[in-house]
Amino acid sequence: MPKLRLAVLGSGSGSNMQSILDAINAGTLDAEIVCVLADVEDAFILERARRAGIPAQYLSCAPFKTKLEGPAEEEWIRVIKSYGADTIVLAGFMRIVKAGLLNAFPNRVLNIHPALLPSFPGLHSWKQALDYGAKVAGCTVHFVDAGTDSGPIIVQRPVPVLEGDTPETLHARIQEQEHLAFPEALRLLAAGRLSVSGRRVVIAP
Ligand code: GRF
Repeated sequence: MPKLRLAVLGSGSGSNMQSILDAINAGTLDAEIVCVLADVEDAFILERARRAGIPAQYLSCAPFKTKLEGPAEEEWIRVIKSYGADTIVLAGFMRIVKAGLLNAFPNRVLNIHPALLPSFPGLHSWKQALDYGAKVAGCTVHFVDAGTDSGPIIVQRPVPVLEGDTPETLHARIQEQEHLAFPEALRLLAAGRLSVSGRRVVIAP
């Protein structure tokens, strides 16, 4: 299998990007991060990438605040292709991606969500789980489809909700599992073991 060529898209700290990079550097994930792109000019994910010698670039999504569409989407696709990426990793990218990007990389856009989908899609899912009174929270890595947090599920990792948890303590424990889940999902993809059948991701032995 050829090595995965990952374009990582983010908006914030980039701890998931770091976990993927750490797995690559440890020799446990056969992939290369070919570029890191952010829609926030001072996002720390860009700084992390630059420190690691990875091309890192801020790109505007104007005039939209919550989605990537229109001429900005065309520009993002052009830039991603210019780095020769074959897989898009949404690692804390706080925007809805639309058909243009998804059609340019069919079944090749992955997202991480801080809940056990289909529970608690949308924003601040760890707080949603806590407020709801769930006893188990977690994270999900899934292929992205046209809906919000609705695509076929690749990997999930549960996290118990503890007495005395605050949104912050629960989110921190969920993030520890995210940092295992994303490399795990990418390892399966890199090994050619994933196929999508309707809603289901089939994992070959
Ligand atoms: C993660 O909690 C992820 O689940 C959500 O955004 C956060 C990104 O964190 N989609 P980081 O930028 O990877 O540290």
